[in-house]
Amino acid sequence: MKLVALAVFLATAQLWYEHDNTIYTVSAPVTIRDAPAYPYRGFMLDTARNYFPVADIKRTLDAMSWVKLNEFHWHIVDSQSFPFEIPGFTDLAQKGAYSSSQVYSLSDVRDIISYAGARGIDVMVEIDTPGHTAIIAEAHPEYVACPGATPWATYANEPPAGQLRFADSKVTDYIAKLFTAVATIFPSKLFSTGGDELNTNCYAIDEPTQASLNATGRTLEQALDAFTQETHKALEVKGKTPVVWEEMVLVHNVTLSKETKVLVWISSDNVKAVAEKGYKLIHAASDYFYLDCGGGGWVGANPNGNSWCDPFKTWQHAYSFNPTANLTAEESKLVLGGQHLLWTEQSGPQNLDSIVWPRAASSAELFWTGPGGNVSTALPRLHDVAYRLRQRGVDAISLQPEWCALRPGACDLTA
Ligand SMILES: *[C@@H]1O[C@H](CO)[C@@H](O)[C@H](O)[C@H]1NC(C)=O
Ligand SMILES: *[C@@H]1O[C@H](CO)[C@@H](O)[C@H](O)[C@H]1NC(C)=O
Ligand SMILES: *[C@@H]1O[C@H](CO)[C@@H](O)[C@H](O)[C@H]1NC(C)=O
Ligand SMILES: *[C@@H]1O[C@H](CO)[C@@H](O)[C@H](O)[C@H]1NC(C)=O
Repeated sequence: MKLVALAVFLATAQLWYEHDNTIYTVSAPVTIRDAPAYPYRGFMLDTARNYFPVADIKRTLDAMSWVKLNEFHWHIVDSQSFPFEIPGFTDLAQKGAYSSSQVYSLSDVRDIISYAGARGIDVMVEIDTPGHTAIIAEAHPEYVACPGATPWATYANEPPAGQLRFADSKVTDYIAKLFTAVATIFPSKLFSTGGDELNTNCYAIDEPTQASLNATGRTLEQALDAFTQETHKALEVKGKTPVVWEEMVLVHNVTLSKETKVLVWISSDNVKAVAEKGYKLIHAASDYFYLDCGGGGWVGANPNGNSWCDPFKTWQHAYSFNPTANLTAEESKLVLGGQHLLWTEQSGPQNLDSIVWPRAASSAELFWTGPGGNVSTALPRLHDVAYRLRQRGVDAISLQPEWCALRPGACDLTA
């Protein structure tokens, strides 16, 4: 589809209804004057905890385009699996994917990038480092500290334990080359290098790390700084802007370029601190936008476990988020937008649509329209989105009993 035709289709597909083989609209003639409040309106999918076939990702991209989300943040690998076949680094997927059929080949990735692009969606890949990398030990045991250390909870936020030996310059070189190879595949200017949940206990028991630190006379933080600068430099050479999780600016003392973008995830309470440091930021706070919260605990042998970010985050809660709360006018300019996120410890193709849709449409509207929306008047629109998604093959869930959906306002708390 030509770009102009696509834009017209995207705008008008929301205006037309089909009923009894008749296509109609409730408002004509129509003039559209519209522009987004924020440039970054995303959705993040983790394809490492569980694998999602290409068709599921494409269906998700379709749904994203219908609500004008324009950034697919692809958390493609993590400690549990490495389903990404990177030219020159194919041993990582060969040894680290769940199976040979649960791998994104280079042509799969290119297919997803172009499918997304045709729908106005940029793909920001994430290679999370130096934590969340235990799986690299399958191909390169010498690069990973405390692999499989137990009890895992002492050495990692999730099993299995294992993080990059970033104090070793060979590891830094390897990751810089890996980033270069991945940067060559993805046309996006944004490249997420991760940087969350680094566990220091893991390095404390790792002899090779201690030996590297001793040999260089550096502290762990200084080594992390060197690793971060080297690996980010490899991206900057390729014209990319690094995107990091919030700990890289709030917990660690590393040198980042001022262009670096920050994903605020632990809590919306941390937004202010990131803004005060002057970084552009993307809202991704667990207390508003994590789709997996409230799903119960998944760790085995723990019958009373809850999700760490209980309770479930409703669409209304996400929709009520104020992107510039507590920020000065100057700090507010640092907000690029935001996104819903799906971590997939308890998700797969089976519940992808139902856990994401139509909830993710609420942040799509929030970051398109800006804050101050009214949940009462948004509800009928969201019902509408859910019906359309289902009609087009995306299994969006019901938000209310049909009785309520048919009577706007009748089920409001105060009605
Ligand atoms: C590193 O240095 C510390 C302090 O001098 C020493 O106790 C430790 O054994 C050394 N570790 C290694 C692996 O070289
Ligand atoms: C952070 O790093 C800088 C430069 O490497 C150093 O001057 C400063 O003392 C460090 N701050 C802390 C709190 O470690
Ligand atoms: C704004 O500040 C209040 C009071 O400190 C806090 O409770 C709230 O979580 C903050 N909101 C955001 C979005 O930072
Ligand atoms: C939200 O919209 C409803 C329905 O139009 C209206 O009654 C209510 O006053 C609005 N709430 C706010 C906070 O504007």
